[in-house]
Amino acid sequence: MLYAFFGFLRESYTLYQVRFTVSEDAEHAMVIEIIDISGTVDRLWLRVLAQADEKVYGAGEQFTHFNLRGRSFPLWVREQGTGRNKSSPNAFYDEQTYGGGGDYHTTNFPQPSYISSRGYYLYHEGPDYVVMDFTHDNFHEVFVLAERSVSVGRMRLQNGSDEASLVGHLTNFLGHQPPLPVWIHSGAILGIQGGTTKLQERLGQAEEHGVAVSAVWILDWAGPVSTSSGQTPLWDWQWNQQLYPGLPSVIAELVARGIRVLGYVNPYLRTDGQLYAVAEENDYFVKSATNQTFIHDFGGFFSGTIDLTNPAAYDWYKNEVVKKNMIEFGFSGWMADFGEYLPIHGVSFHSGQSAEELHNQWPVMWAQLNRQAVEEAGKLGDVVFWTRAGFSGTGNYTTLLWAGDQNVDWSLSDGLASTLTAALSVGMSGVALTHYDIGGFTTFASYTPPLVRTEELLLRSAEMAVFTPVFRTHEGSEPSANVQFYSSRGTLLKFARLSRMFSAMMNYTRHVVDTSSTTGLPAQRPLFLNNPSDEPSYDVSYQYMYGDDLLVAPVYLPHKESWDVYLPSDPEASWVFLWDESIVSSGGGTVRVAAPLGHPPVFYRNVSEFVEVFRKVASEPLVNLPPYVPKPGPSPTPGENPGEGPDYCSSSAIPLRLGRYYVLVLLAVVKLFLM
Ligand SMILES: *[C@@H]1O[C@H](CO)[C@@H](O)[C@H](O)[C@H]1NC(C)=O
Ligand SMILES: *[C@@H]1O[C@H](CO)[C@@H](O)[C@H](O)[C@H]1NC(C)=O
Ligand SMILES: *[C@@H]1O[C@H](CO)[C@@H](O)[C@H](O)[C@H]1NC(C)=O
Repeated sequence: MLYAFFGFLRESYTLYQVRFTVSEDAEHAMVIEIIDISGTVDRLWLRVLAQADEKVYGAGEQFTHFNLRGRSFPLWVREQGTGRNKSSPNAFYDEQTYGGGGDYHTTNFPQPSYISSRGYYLYHEGPDYVVMDFTHDNFHEVFVLAERSVSVGRMRLQNGSDEASLVGHLTNFLGHQPPLPVWIHSGAILGIQGGTTKLQERLGQAEEHGVAVSAVWILDWAGPVSTSSGQTPLWDWQWNQQLYPGLPSVIAELVARGIRVLGYVNPYLRTDGQLYAVAEENDYFVKSATNQTFIHDFGGFFSGTIDLTNPAAYDWYKNEVVKKNMIEFGFSGWMADFGEYLPIHGVSFHSGQSAEELHNQWPVMWAQLNRQAVEEAGKLGDVVFWTRAGFSGTGNYTTLLWAGDQNVDWSLSDGLASTLTAALSVGMSGVALTHYDIGGFTTFASYTPPLVRTEELLLRSAEMAVFTPVFRTHEGSEPSANVQFYSSRGTLLKFARLSRMFSAMMNYTRHVVDTSSTTGLPAQRPLFLNNPSDEPSYDVSYQYMYGDDLLVAPVYLPHKESWDVYLPSDPEASWVFLWDESIVSSGGGTVRVAAPLGHPPVFYRNVSEFVEVFRKVASEPLVNLPPYVPKPGPSPTPGENPGEGPDYCSSSAIPLRLGRYYVLVLLAVVKLFLM
């Protein structure tokens, strides 16, 4: 301990004495620990001097704003929201029906930390509700609401020579992610649903059209369900033999020829499932205020929440569900969904902790359970799981993050562009490896105009994923309404080309991932991490460095044929345009390049050891076929597009719409009742 201070707070004529210590830890970070002497102070406002032109980044995974300056960020784990912009029609609809529209600051993965361009990071340790307010010119204000009866926590501040060293320091403290399995870089992970026959048919189509496949991901391995907000898997985590007959032998056969099979799990069990009965019998669920099992309404079905504070429940879930039903079953990975929904009122836990204390930690505990299952099975580095919810410490456990549920649109607040902001901000929060659903997720076919995925969005999204560590598709919340990689022969061929480009990147991808894992520097980095002395780089939010050698400026808007790319000045190299080596720049300005669909704007550094890899990627010729535009209406005529499966359109759209009408009717009834 270096110093001890005493301070006084005055509130309505009462004086509180507050003690805090300032010390230096083994990492040479300054640690301020606030100790409440009187036992009644449960909130704190800390102000840190700021400069008007200072920039701040991080706060976990932020989707709308990369530089956080000028706004205030409440940090509380929750769904990111759909639309995430109160002025957009989609967010408005969703706000009206489900109250789930979200806003610029709503995120599945907040973290009370930021990195300042003045060369320090600040991190609040503890699970508290925190608001980081960057709206003032001359100070930042960190508000902590300590729901616990203990202290309002510890703050760490650490300085560093530049932002890259700060990311390294923060990651050293919070924990590094292990490298991804090598197989994941070899091709696309295809999100396929609908049963064994459909799985084989879709995979067959993909391979016939030249798709490089690393894995198939079967979200509905436990069975499918239609809910008020779309299609979801059946939450009873065991092999559904009706839908997937012969799955174990299909997995064995696919694995033998180098294709992995992936599944899905979350920390909830459906009340009508078999596993629920076992968990209920053993008292494994979070309890309600009246000491009954707390039942959560998920919009059409009900579930219990496994009490992760109960060691017996935790072990049962880890051993029987994750290890036995998933790893031993043959899966090489899964989406470890959710973690956000822990209510803070009316619930109780085995550990006796309060819900306020557990709420933000819940997704970390969920990631830890998955991580332990993988490690105990001896599969770390071979099996991968990906999480969306998170909080401080998630990076120490998760093997991979994904950006949650984007709208299948081009909006900055919740579309393709928001995955970029997410990757950069979470990278500035110490999590190096993330990815996203190619083509987005949230679909509302019944809206006017419909929110459905176009071929252009699917392909722009996929071409960006070529320059990330993982290339994974998702059919979205209403699969039949969206354009899929298999929707037409043309889509398949264009998608196949991109998947081969991703596969051709493998040696470089591996290099980037290994570097990320050891240094903590994110795979997708803001430009200033590599070029700290280039001032304009600090304002570039929608471009990134992929490792040290590639600058990627994804086209995130529709109907573009050209794109402006900012190139930082780099004293050691020049920038070479991936698609035309005659375009070379020494940087320090913006260049406009041709950017037709399939040619994402990418520059490489001429001094890279991987120039041959980049040339190979660029050698894939464009597929010159017209865009695929689905006919309006729910059911395109089978066979209309060559390569289309006979029953392209599944039936999920109909019950789904019914579900929404019920919700609307209910709302109307509630409104009448209130009048
Ligand atoms: C990271 O995880 C390990 C294993 O559970 C744990 O011992 C360590 O304390 C964690 N580190 C942090 C910073 O949470
Ligand atoms: C929110 O929506 C409005 C209206 O469509 C738009 O003008 C604004 O740019 C959007 N904001 C963001 C961050 O996307
Ligand atoms: C990737 O690396 C391997 C082994 O180092 C090498 O044999 C192979 O040629 C490389 N591939 C490319 C495309 O550079």
